[in-house]
Amino acid sequence: MSTSQTLAMAAKTRELKAEGKDIIGLSLGEPDFNTPDFIKDAAIQAINDDYNSYTPVDGYVELKDAIIQKFKRDNGLTYDRSQIVVSTGAKQSLANIAMVMLNPGDEVILPCPYWVSYAEIVKLAQGVPVEVPTSVESDFKMTPQQLEAAITPKTRMLWYSSPSNPSGMVYSKEELRALADVLVKHPDIIVVSDEIYEHINFIGGHASMAQFEDMYDRVVTVNGVSKAFAMTGWRIGYIGAPTEIARACNKMQGQITSGANCIAQRAVITALEAPVSKIQYMIDRFKSRKSLIIGLMSQIKGFAITEPEGAFYVFPDVSYFFGKTINGYEIKDATDFSMFLLERALVATVTGDAFGSPNCIRFSYAASESEIEEAMKRIKNAISEG
Ligand SMILES: Cc1ncc(COP(=O)(O)O)c(C=O)c1O
Repeated sequence: MSTSQTLAMAAKTRELKAEGKDIIGLSLGEPDFNTPDFIKDAAIQAINDDYNSYTPVDGYVELKDAIIQKFKRDNGLTYDRSQIVVSTGAKQSLANIAMVMLNPGDEVILPCPYWVSYAEIVKLAQGVPVEVPTSVESDFKMTPQQLEAAITPKTRMLWYSSPSNPSGMVYSKEELRALADVLVKHPDIIVVSDEIYEHINFIGGHASMAQFEDMYDRVVTVNGVSKAFAMTGWRIGYIGAPTEIARACNKMQGQITSGANCIAQRAVITALEAPVSKIQYMIDRFKSRKSLIIGLMSQIKGFAITEPEGAFYVFPDVSYFFGKTINGYEIKDATDFSMFLLERALVATVTGDAFGSPNCIRFSYAASESEIEEAMKRIKNAISEG
């Protein structure tokens, strides 16, 4: 496994902060909101109700039922209890899937850019990541032709997130159908559809691959509460999956971590049973911040942008700067550019290399409006000084 690409960046950020520099952090993949009070109250109630014992490995029955209702209400998907596994974050859901599905040398198709951990989790399970590049020009969407070309006799799975971290791209139902049309010709390939940003969607109409009848039996739908409910530290994710995959994940998890935290599970029952309108205020804020950052960033020469349709990231192509020297700072690649922004503009971002897209860098706009404005001003100044 490779060491996290973001570590050098994080170390530099710490160093500059220790020197008293005022760094604006646009690198984190987590909402800057507090968990809503109605969810916190449910957790406090669970503590007072003495929920303190080991939990069932695949989750409390009441939580599984809330997840089943959520899948029905939001996605039109029908699952029974044997198909649901609750885990310690969607990250554990993904790790379970890789471990139970992959034999050494099995290939997993990852449209780039992908979420940092996909490739490393696949490698950890002795699988082989097969990257399919996309770009600003293709709105970061993998085409059916690209998918077809990436499939080999060793292909075991396709993993993607929509809305996407890091690009903010959202696949429409028609685009997913076009990908499904390729997959139906290859019945052994399992799809992992990571829908953790489902509610942070600015164009409406979230689509799930499992909604297609001819795909339902081959799709693992991954979701969780970290992002839309501002619950990153509570560590609850879950899957809806074909029964045999769910059973295998349950078995794997039972030997590694057991069931997820009892208090967090009780709180998530309340979170998922609530109407989405209860968290709409956060989604609305992300949407207006998206417009703010896109408006300001598009005034900066050299940033090629695809307007994000969901999540809370912008992923500009900054290859315009490669090979240039700005104010004595030589920029060879996206990692240098990201480091340049940190050192000269005091703005922390993440290099696209970490996501398999070496021409881009990722900005998270899960930050206040004033931080976004100040960050864009500093970047503009740092670049024009060159
Ligand atoms: C696309 C994607 N999937 C999964 C996760 C992991 O979520 P969790 O906090 O539930 O482990 C993240 C978190 O950054 C993510 O961006």
